[in-house]
Amino acid sequence: MTDEQREIWRPAVVVVGASRGIGRAIAKVAAREGATVVLVARSLDGLAAAANDVKTAGGQAFTLSLDLLASDASTRLQDFLTANGLACDVLVNSAGYGLRGPATTLPIADQLGMVDLNIRALTDMTLHFLPGMVARGRGGVLNLGSIAGFTPGPNMALYYASKAFVRSFSEALHQEVRSTGVTVTCVAPGPVSTEFLERSGAGRAALFKILPKLSSDYVAERSWRGFKSGRRLVVPGFSAKLVAFVASALPSAVKVPLIGRLQRRSRDLCPCGSGKPFKECCGSRQTRRGVA
Ligand SMILES: NC(=O)c1ccc[n+]([C@@H]2O[C@H](COP(=O)([O-])OP(=O)(O)OC[C@H]3O[C@@H](n4cnc5c(N)ncnc54)[C@H](OP(=O)(O)O)[C@@H]3O)[C@@H](O)[C@H]2O)c1
Repeated sequence: MTDEQREIWRPAVVVVGASRGIGRAIAKVAAREGATVVLVARSLDGLAAAANDVKTAGGQAFTLSLDLLASDASTRLQDFLTANGLACDVLVNSAGYGLRGPATTLPIADQLGMVDLNIRALTDMTLHFLPGMVARGRGGVLNLGSIAGFTPGPNMALYYASKAFVRSFSEALHQEVRSTGVTVTCVAPGPVSTEFLERSGAGRAALFKILPKLSSDYVAERSWRGFKSGRRLVVPGFSAKLVAFVASALPSAVKVPLIGRLQRRSRDLCPCGSGKPFKECCGSRQTRRGVA
């Protein structure tokens, strides 16, 4: 690359899902290295607060309010970068949501929204910006997976499946580009104290009450450090590593029913479609004994 070519773009860390939670914390960590950070999410207030964090930490902040569910989201982000003389040097895909409950009782549109955001939008962003990184021979992609990506998860079926996709896709890409100077890293945290737990309903399930919760700052530090050292997979914290190991080692016949039980609440609607709470329907003792 000539000096002339080098001067026409400025490298930026683009954080998608930056208005709160883990994305906002990663933006702060990158800013401490003096990075130019492009913050992307929908909430203007959240973006303004994240931009303030970035400036305080020593970085330069740009904000873009964008709904990733829009089909032209990656093009609009590209246009924004071009208009500001920036190139996506590092892409952090942190936007995502989860929903707890049996798949037969959750609204279909909300479940498909998870496919659109956790899978389609992350894939679109990655495929859009990765070739430029490879051409420049630097930078990379940091994708937020989860320890949920190590096993099927009844009562959060679609969320777990979406995170399995993120892990598989990211690890494969890591291998494809590893000799080009570009890194693709999947981060797989356990429960993190963010709004995600409340919004998804996961925080009220026994599984998430048992597991220790990490701070988003801790997860961000570990994620950034792992990415910078070229890691394929980062599982922050001892408890998450243990869960990921156990989930990978246990046979499905053991782990899947166990996770299903730990993620079910007695007030959940019964998956049989009766409209009654599970404990008064298929989960009642009589029904389990085959009386009803
Ligand atoms: N928290 C946990 O326990 C945990 C554990 C493992 C993995 N993760 C994963 O880590 C990632 C970040 O989670 P978090 O805990 O930081 O969640 P969070 O606090 O709920 O933040 C989610 C971010 O995604 C953005 N977002 C959501 N929908 C969007 C849309 N349609 N368009 C643009 N931006 C959108 C939100 O911004 P706006 O609402 O302003 O758009 C927000 O900035 C997710 O992929 C999650 O699955 C979380």
